[in-house]
Amino acid sequence: MKIFIDTANLDMIKEINSWGILDGVTTNPSLIAKEGVDVRTRVREIAEIVDGPISAEAMSTTAEEMVKEGRELASIHPNINVKLPMCVETLKATKILSSEGIKVNVTLIFSPLQALLAAKAGAAFVSPFVGRLDDIGQYGSDLVEEIMAIFNNYGIGTEVIAASIRGPNHVLDATLCGCDIATIPYDTLKKMIGHPKTDEGIAKFVADYEKSKKN
Ligand code: G3P
Repeated sequence: MKIFIDTANLDMIKEINSWGILDGVTTNPSLIAKEGVDVRTRVREIAEIVDGPISAEAMSTTAEEMVKEGRELASIHPNINVKLPMCVETLKATKILSSEGIKVNVTLIFSPLQALLAAKAGAAFVSPFVGRLDDIGQYGSDLVEEIMAIFNNYGIGTEVIAASIRGPNHVLDATLCGCDIATIPYDTLKKMIGHPKTDEGIAKFVADYEKSKKN
């Protein structure tokens, strides 16, 4: 499974990229606002750090404007894909942008049939929001599993990005159903590394090594 980081913070991106495990980056207007930067500048900076897909969200509301904004965003760097929220205008814009070779990530996916429609319109990626479904008492990971089953049934090549990830269990659920990508917040990535038995094991090896040096 590919691992993306879900942030617009350059320090976090640089740190996780240095681990050698990072395949791409997703941003959204809320993450960009947290950084107090302009989306175009920030995605250009990210593209200079990470060699992989980078999602930049377009804020237009009509298909015509989405296409114009999408072309502008995609022209910033070859790795930039255009993130658009699921709606009719997005489907129309996705059809046009994808026919021009511009990759679209259809976001705010909350049902498997939304994912199917986005894929049929030519989306390169769909982003089901796991955590936000958990927030309203549904089991968000089921959505990812259902989308994977549909895409596998029909040989659909659109990649599924498990998004709105809130902890390591969401990442594990995504891997178990063969999800293509998880876009993971920095804190969750840090939690994925550690295990108390690993720490205990390292401490014991170090202590035994120190003892053996004295013999
Ligand atoms: O990738 C989408 C993600 O940024 C949304 O996460 O935690 O705001 O639901 P969250």
